Amino acid sequence: MSKRIGVGLLGLGTVGTGVASILTNSQDRHPLVSELELKRVAVRDLSRRRALSLPETLFTSDVQDVVDDPSVEIVVEVMGGIEPARSMILRSIALGKSVVTANKALIARYGDEIASAASAAGVYVLIEAAVGGGIPIIEPLKQSLGANRIERVSGIINGTTNYILTRMEKEGVAYKDVLNEAQKLGFAEADPSADVEGMDAADKISILSGLAFGGLVDREKIPTEGISSLQSRDIGYARKLGYCIKLLAVAERFDSKEERIDILDLGIRVQPTLVPFDHPLAGVNGVNNAILIEGEPIGEVMFYGPGAGAGPTASAVVADILNIAGINKIGGSKTGLDPLLSAKSWRKCTLINKAETLQRNYIRLTAKDSPGVIGSIGTCFGKSGVSIQSIVQFDTTDEHAEIVVITHKVKDGEMQNALASINASSGIAGIEAHLGCL
Ligand code: HSE
Repeated sequence: MSKRIGVGLLGLGTVGTGVASILTNSQDRHPLVSELELKRVAVRDLSRRRALSLPETLFTSDVQDVVDDPSVEIVVEVMGGIEPARSMILRSIALGKSVVTANKALIARYGDEIASAASAAGVYVLIEAAVGGGIPIIEPLKQSLGANRIERVSGIINGTTNYILTRMEKEGVAYKDVLNEAQKLGFAEADPSADVEGMDAADKISILSGLAFGGLVDREKIPTEGISSLQSRDIGYARKLGYCIKLLAVAERFDSKEERIDILDLGIRVQPTLVPFDHPLAGVNGVNNAILIEGEPIGEVMFYGPGAGAGPTASAVVADILNIAGINKIGGSKTGLDPLLSAKSWRKCTLINKAETLQRNYIRLTAKDSPGVIGSIGTCFGKSGVSIQSIVQFDTTDEHAEIVVITHKVKDGEMQNALASINASSGIAGIEAHLGCL
């Protein structure tokens, strides 16, 4: 019998239970899974009944018991939140233990601190489960796509919002009604704000961008809009124009004047965005996620699959545990860390000013249905340097018309100037929606 590799779990919620269930049922999986042994499990409430039956002796309510246990070689953090997760990860690293975490909020904010500590201690912190649930995307970005100069990473990386948007589009149901039902069915959290306000997607694109471009940006500066104020009528109008609406997270290289490889400017955003029906991301529905990578020389490659849930996320966590177990089996990192697997930042990435970011836009406004109004809208856009691709008048009442404008690619600063001058012009009742457009 080979030496067993001790695993300690911090958290036994949905993902933790999924991980424990794989570790305690290794039949027909990779033979290395059978060498992993769950040694300790930290839970918040020792008296709670659990879906998975595990020996009582494994449990503790003190996370530090797990980290400090000498039989635990690999620490798996699946409790979420910033503290005590951050301290426990740093403590594990200081004790020379490699860590697997699914904690995107933590890695998006403290990824550099954690990676530097891990590198100094000669251990790994692996994060495959932090983005895209079961979709392998972290290791492909770190390893399989390493030869590429990445141009853009764009994705649907929040399952809750994609589920809501899919139902709004397919069934014409209002945002609030779908959210209520999704909460009842357990697809949406009781407090869904991190998902519906785009924060979860912003954490994830920050991590993907850090790996794709070589350095983490300041997470708090990523322009982020969610779907909570999205109106069904915009989904309907988009559909008539040949688009669906998705909550897209995008990170793209921005050509800077300075040709330096140690510094890179990026445009990153999370925003409800019109996606043409024939675009690969348009067919990603329900709780599924997808990430489209554009690079040179690969061209386009898309990763698609279940973005959340116990099984898919546990699949990613256990893959990371296996990576570390494999390295530990051949003597660990005594001769240094694998530079691809350890994925330390190798340059400084900065966010460009939002006013400089370039994109197409969808605008819905209400205006008087009278002669000259469309002309004056055109003038406002034209004077601000915004080129209109199409302008369509939809529903009209006795008083008002709804007008939808799609622009060519323009700088956000110019777009904001145009919107300010439209707001100030007589005959326009209001700008009702402003979304991105691919
Ligand atoms: N709440 C996330 C989502 C899953 O809805 O995609 C965990 O990352």
